[in-house]
Amino acid sequence: MLKAQNLPIFHITRFICKSPSIRVQWTPLMTKDSFVIQGLAGKKSLKGDVFINGAKNAVLKAMAATVLFDDVVALDNVPDTEDVKKLSAILKKIGAKVVHDGKKLSIDPRGISSTCLDPELSESMRASVVLTGPLLSRFRNVTFPAPGGCVIGTRPIDLFIEGYKKMGADVDFQKDAYVMSGKLAGAEIFFNIQTVGGTETLMMAAVLAEGTTVLKNCAMEPEIVSVAEYLNSCGAEIVGAGTPTITIKGRAGKLLSSAGKVYITPPDRIEAGSFLLLGALLAEKITIKDCNPLHLEVLIHMLKNSGVHIETAPGSITVKSPDSFRSFAIRTHEYPGFPTDLQSQAVTFLTQAEGEAIVFETIYEGRFKFVQNLLKMGAHITEMNPREILVKGPAKLKATQKDLESFDLRGGFASVMAALVAEGTSTLQNIYYIDRGYENLEGKLAALGADIKRIKG
Ligand code: EPZ
Repeated sequence: MLKAQNLPIFHITRFICKSPSIRVQWTPLMTKDSFVIQGLAGKKSLKGDVFINGAKNAVLKAMAATVLFDDVVALDNVPDTEDVKKLSAILKKIGAKVVHDGKKLSIDPRGISSTCLDPELSESMRASVVLTGPLLSRFRNVTFPAPGGCVIGTRPIDLFIEGYKKMGADVDFQKDAYVMSGKLAGAEIFFNIQTVGGTETLMMAAVLAEGTTVLKNCAMEPEIVSVAEYLNSCGAEIVGAGTPTITIKGRAGKLLSSAGKVYITPPDRIEAGSFLLLGALLAEKITIKDCNPLHLEVLIHMLKNSGVHIETAPGSITVKSPDSFRSFAIRTHEYPGFPTDLQSQAVTFLTQAEGEAIVFETIYEGRFKFVQNLLKMGAHITEMNPREILVKGPAKLKATQKDLESFDLRGGFASVMAALVAEGTSTLQNIYYIDRGYENLEGKLAALGADIKRIKG
């Protein structure tokens, strides 16, 4: 770990130059909406209740898992986000029947007539790769484009491919697409790094394989447990989800049946953590409802230690921002460590904390692009190396005349937080990225007293 040091100011310039503001490649799938945000100039005035939606990173996998079934699968507490809409569109394109009704979703996989994923749709959403496991396992073939990286990292799928090969699949790469085929057999697979999507995808593929599969060095996120528990309630035999070793007894092609059992999407711990960090900065008193505090133990522990007033109860977290709070170092880590998906929001929090701290992003190689927005508003952040930054606080933030850009989902939320802390009015472009994982963010913030408007692009 690098020692925190007073790096000269030019580092900040280099930081901005080195990570030039990424001109987001607009595609027809993306709206061009923006947010106009009136800063609170540090006034801790946000108050009221915020209700957390179902977890994007759980429901996308449950939607993919419906391919393993011989009947209609009903899902509830589904968030209304862009990624859910996009995965629904991908499923419809291959022939599944998908019906949305508010927070309810039903998926009938019996009409699936193709296992060729739409390139444009699936390239724009990495999570679509999770569909490949169930499709390959059920239909013994699947074709899909190499999922594009995104601004936070290259996001390879080598661990998925390695696992499929171990299970007996033939894998070819033709004209920018993977073509996989074969009857999957149980295997022992060791992930050389913990991969959430890899764990989920191969766990689902193993459900219909012939024989037993043992996955080792698995990711342990709660979303994985939620999907495994539902599949087990419908006839799967998955043991160890949430631990480093998962054993799946394959059904040799025998499909699962939901028999009317509904998948209830668990609360989105990252949305809850995002609002907790916002409240730690600007809350007179905010209560975060429909959440699971047990999924946020590391963040709650670190914020309490820094002086933030937090009370938890089953299903809710109440937060009040103190006059001042101490800085703390962050090293992102797979669950139950500090989530990489809360790193950006925590950096904005640290710009207002007393002291200085290193933030070490161990999961992705490019998850600091949002820092450009904070620097434009006056934050004191220095790049130590592409994975470590030094944050000094407290720094007075002022709205910049230049528009801010949202490069990714969590960096977008972090930029909204900074604009709310700042003095003056900020404009944040490309909020399509925020819409991918936060339902009605402007409505939730307005209900807490924030002055934020969506400008249709
Ligand atoms: C999931 O992505 C989440 N997305 C991400 O949330 C989250 O950041 C990530 O897990 C880590 O917690 C969804 O669940 C839809 P990984 P996933 O495979 O599964 C490398 C958000 O903001 N890797 O655990 O794609 C990879 O490059 C999003 O909601 C390989 O090298 O993440 C990364 O460095 C962002 N080869 C690390 O592993 C592989 O084959 C962790 O990736 C697979 C992954």
